[in-house]
Amino acid sequence: MRQTPYEMLGGEAGIRDLAGAFYNAMDRMETAHDIRAMHADNLDEIKDKLFEYLSGWLGGPRLYSEKYGTVCLTEPHAPFEIGSKERDQWLACMDQALVDVGADDELRGLLKQPFKMIAGTVQNQRD
Ligand code: HEM
Repeated sequence: MRQTPYEMLGGEAGIRDLAGAFYNAMDRMETAHDIRAMHADNLDEIKDKLFEYLSGWLGGPRLYSEKYGTVCLTEPHAPFEIGSKERDQWLACMDQALVDVGADDELRGLLKQPFKMIAGTVQNQRD
C-alpha cells in the first residue's frame, strides 16, 4: 500500500520535528523577517498547533480538528495582513524545514504544490 506523507515523514515524531524545524527556520532566516515579526517571541505553543494541524493534513491523526472543531485557517489568520510576500516567506520556511528534517527531493516535490495551495488559501491580501 502507498504510504501517506505523514508516514513518509516518520509519523508523529517526524511531524513534530517538521513543525519545530519550520519555526526554527522562520526564527533564523533573515528573509522570513516579516512573518517572524507577526509571531510571539516564544514559539512553543504555535509549534504544537502546527504539529497538530499538519498531522491531519498530511494523512495522520486529525489532532487539530479534534481539539478545535475545524480545519479552517481563515479566522486565526484574519488579524494579519498576508500578501504574496508573506505567503512566499512561509513557503520558503517550509521548504527549508523539509530539508532540515531530511526529506528527500521526491517527497519535497510531492508536497510543493499542496503546500502552495494551502498557503494560497491563507493569503488574505491581493497585491
Ligand atoms: C501564508 C502565510 C502564512 C502566514 C504569514 C502565517 C502566519 C501566522 C500567524 C501570525 C499566526 C498566529 C500566531 C499566534 O497566534 O501567535 C498563525 C497561526 C497559525 N497558522 Fe499560519 N501563517 C501562514 C500560513 C499557514 C499555513 C499554510 C498553515 C497550515 C499548513 C498555517 C497554520 C497555522 C496554524 C495551525 C495556526 C494556529 C491557529 C490557531 O490559533 O488555532 N499557517 N499563522
